[in-house]
Amino acid sequence: MSPIWQLLEVKATEHMRRHPNDWFQTDGNRANRLSGHAAGLSIDYSKQRVTDDVIDGLLALAEERGVLELRDDMFNGVHINGSEDRAVLHVALRNRSNRPIVLDGQDVMPEVNAVLDHMETFVESVQSGQWKGYAGDPITDVVNIGVGGSDLGTRMVCRALGSYADRGIRVHFVSNIAPSDLASKLSILDPKTTLFVVASKSFGTQETLANARSARRWFLESAPDEEAIKKHFVAVSTHTERVREFGIDPDNMFPIWDWVGGRYSLWSAIGLPIALYLGMDRFKRLLDGAHALDEHFRLNTGRDNLPLILGLIDVWNADFLGSDSLAVFPYGTRLGFLPAHLQQVMMESNGKRVRIDGQPVDSHTSAVLWGGLGTNGQHAFYQLLHQGTRLIPSDFISAIRTHSPIGTQQRQLLANLVAQSRALMLGRTQEEVEAQMRAEGADEATIERIAPHRVCPGGQPSNTILFPQMTPEAVGALLALYEHRVFVAGAVWQIDSFDQWGVELGKQMANELEPFIGSHQEDGVFDGSTRWLLDEIRQHWTP
Ligand code: F6P
Repeated sequence: MSPIWQLLEVKATEHMRRHPNDWFQTDGNRANRLSGHAAGLSIDYSKQRVTDDVIDGLLALAEERGVLELRDDMFNGVHINGSEDRAVLHVALRNRSNRPIVLDGQDVMPEVNAVLDHMETFVESVQSGQWKGYAGDPITDVVNIGVGGSDLGTRMVCRALGSYADRGIRVHFVSNIAPSDLASKLSILDPKTTLFVVASKSFGTQETLANARSARRWFLESAPDEEAIKKHFVAVSTHTERVREFGIDPDNMFPIWDWVGGRYSLWSAIGLPIALYLGMDRFKRLLDGAHALDEHFRLNTGRDNLPLILGLIDVWNADFLGSDSLAVFPYGTRLGFLPAHLQQVMMESNGKRVRIDGQPVDSHTSAVLWGGLGTNGQHAFYQLLHQGTRLIPSDFISAIRTHSPIGTQQRQLLANLVAQSRALMLGRTQEEVEAQMRAEGADEATIERIAPHRVCPGGQPSNTILFPQMTPEAVGALLALYEHRVFVAGAVWQIDSFDQWGVELGKQMANELEPFIGSHQEDGVFDGSTRWLLDEIRQHWTP
């Protein structure tokens, strides 16, 4: 390990012996220094277990690992996804300045803009009712069929910005191969007024194709002929041939490109359901917000670059302070799908064990990202953060104003958000507990017995991210912040954050196993546990 890494290890040992409260008590300016603004987001990282010398050390580590050079390579179309020999250009999808972004000698912006124009024309004709179903009715319901990156981001944004949904279109998501997912949606839909968006970059994903085929069968039970499919099925993919083979007219296909990673694709035509649900104007505002954050990331260095700082703190927490997870707590129901989306962004990107050069990494990589809505989580799993034995960094996220003012709820929501990160940092000492119990009139024997149960050690690190209101721009900036933060950590670890070879193994085994489900085929090739499970399934199976 380099001298910078070793120095940070020494600092980590020192810092874990100190309580973060000391830093606030001895430094009245701490929160002002360890906070900042980016693209309309207010970000406070002063409750992390860092000091200025740690931040300086982490910035030196970033320099040593060439993080900002890699950032520039990404923005300049270099093939930084080495294991797939691809560029990583989701930033081009939201490049609202239209600055040329050159990939292999060619500016990609004209293609990006052409797809946006195609989306706009299509969205307007659906929303205005000009686009008619086979029986002459306007479309009222859009069903996105896709999984992973072809589902999570779009679903997350539709929920987050649901208060803008004023275009008379409802949106539904089918992702799971479990039959009830599709069945429960079809049971409430009318084929005459439903549009299916089959979203699959590869157009080869088992779950998506199985669900899309079933949707087509369901549709054809009422439609007069296959010609009607044109009016009710569109596709988003890189693969024209597979789309055509499936029976979708290539005129109704919105292309994406191999330089858009699945988990970074909501900004492409994969986001079509967002535009259909909220309007193309709102979709573009989402892109604007992400672009503003991209520019912040592209043009700033050092402490002025907040995704850089947050990504480095993620490395600090994982590799130097020994934490295993990152908890994401959005306050506000509309951000309910944020942890699921970020799980894919962070864990599929940085869940790697070899560096880009094929050598094993010499530290831990991605944290396990988990989370859930505040305040609900406060009454459930937050207990483990308050009094468990693990160091669990967390992110608290909220809009300040609500689109749905009711009573005093928003004030209470924000009070809870601020109070929780404060409680996790401050904790409550034995002396404080004893003093409180005495004030409550407890006798000394009870105090001695109960006080240890009421002590909270504090010192749990957190970031807080606030923005004025849940606008398309704010959501765009928030999501781009996480994407770049993940990029930064991946660059420090020198891994390929843009491939996902691991998921292939599970896909391959599922395909191999499928013929054995419920059948009496000889299954001796499998391990004992697999054979036992196949036997259990066989006993209860009805085709
Ligand atoms: O299985 C993981 C994955 O490859 C993701 O990376 C991707 O977002 C998802 O599957 C869906 O893939 P596709 O869009 O090709 O159907």
